[in-house]
Amino acid sequence: MKKIAFIIIGVLIFCTAAGYIVLNKLNTGKEIDMGDKKVLVAYYSYSGNTKKVAEKIQNITKGDIFEIVPKTSYSNNYDEVVALAQEEKQKDVRPELVDNGNVKDYDIIFVGTPVWWYTMAGPVRTFLTKNDFTGKTIVPFCTHGGGGASSTYVDMQKLAKGAKITEGYTSYEKSAKDSEIIEWINKLKL
Ligand SMILES: Cc1cc2nc3c(=O)[nH]c(=O)nc-3n(C[C@H](O)[C@H](O)[C@H](O)COP(=O)(O)O)c2cc1C
Repeated sequence: MKKIAFIIIGVLIFCTAAGYIVLNKLNTGKEIDMGDKKVLVAYYSYSGNTKKVAEKIQNITKGDIFEIVPKTSYSNNYDEVVALAQEEKQKDVRPELVDNGNVKDYDIIFVGTPVWWYTMAGPVRTFLTKNDFTGKTIVPFCTHGGGGASSTYVDMQKLAKGAKITEGYTSYEKSAKDSEIIEWINKLKL
């Protein structure tokens, strides 16, 4: 009888400990401790894919989030946007923004963009040139429609003079995953 009671108590203790470990992992697994570094997640998104990734990163890092919004919205007509974006790239247009943002108070700035014509979208060009990134760390990410990041990250480095640009996180359309983002950020050792 005593033996059975011991076995039951042993099983209960084991289950409680295992449950605690699992719950603890589930609760903290989605967050990364950035120490005392101040984090901003800035992004532009035309059709919502990059916005989803930005929100995932914000949820994981618990940083602040800033949406880059052009003063003149792009047309809802996809073909028109494709044509305009090509022209903007060729002429290196930096469209005016509703708010240029302010990176002054941040150490680490995640910068997200859809890939437009093999590089970042125009509004992100504006954001990178209207802010002073000297001494800051830029952590880039982008979503694309099948062509990958192309020259997005290299072009970001050219515009954000004085910043250290880390390896980026590149995902196809809506395919970004929390687990991949956590792995990427952990690998960066920010
Ligand atoms: C103007 C324009 C240009 C694009 N150029 C590319 C490209 O060069 N390479 C690519 O893989 N996808 C390209 N795409 C597809 C987008 O990068 C892709 O759909 C992205 O996930 C959209 O992100 P968003 O929903 O945040 O706007 C382009 C889309 C648009 C609207």
